[in-house]
Amino acid sequence: MRRYVIAGNWKMNMTPKGAEALIGEMKPLVEGKNNCDVVLCVPAIDIPAAVEAAKGSNIKIGAENVHFKASGAYTGEISAEMLVEAGVEYVVIGHSERRQYFGETDQTVNLRTLAALNAGLKAIVCVGETLEQRELGYTETLLKYQTKMALTNVTPEQMNNVIIAYEPVWAIGTGVTATADQADEGNGYVRAAVAEMFGADIANKTVVQYGGSMNDKNAAELLSKENVDGGLIGGASLKPAAFAAIVDAAQ
Ligand code: 13P
Repeated sequence: MRRYVIAGNWKMNMTPKGAEALIGEMKPLVEGKNNCDVVLCVPAIDIPAAVEAAKGSNIKIGAENVHFKASGAYTGEISAEMLVEAGVEYVVIGHSERRQYFGETDQTVNLRTLAALNAGLKAIVCVGETLEQRELGYTETLLKYQTKMALTNVTPEQMNNVIIAYEPVWAIGTGVTATADQADEGNGYVRAAVAEMFGADIANKTVVQYGGSMNDKNAAELLSKENVDGGLIGGASLKPAAFAAIVDAAQ
């Protein structure tokens, strides 16, 4: 019932020229892999080059952040309307790196999510616990809280455009992947929170990704789990062959 979504998050990597070259390499490797949505979320400056390079392919382009106001005196920020006009279809919101380094809170994650959805973008909302929170036994509480805060005031109809990425902070960029059972359990907590807010039908339709050191070796096992509907992939999304292998695992 749920369609896999395999999304790359390039973070602060690749210049526009590099983006063009990387997508050029990636295109033939993922062509015809239509059993999942293939998305690359790229730095804002790379968006025009990425949209152009992805034309005529099954690769969709996403941004890595969006501001919650429509316009105004917000130096350095980018609005949802700007992203839409540039050809962006997806946007990552509330990544743990933004929470950790840029003062992102559950409130601003919620506001950004609403702005993205109101503009017709698909929101990839990130949630995840730190190692300390996990060791204290707060994983379920934290994941449910972050999920519910992010989705406050989202309408049931808008849930069609919401993807939630469970990214345990301790697994991001560390090479330490959650076990498939840990990923399934975390994603399950997220889905349970969606069910508590919107009911079981919507929860069963909501795409919940896993992210955190997903790669060509571990993707098949992670994606085989009931609650894992795709991946949000950092490092491996910068390597065409590895990313294409993850897309293959979702076929
Ligand atoms: P890595 O795949 O590099 O661990 O990054 C995961 C991530 O943060 C994707 O958003």
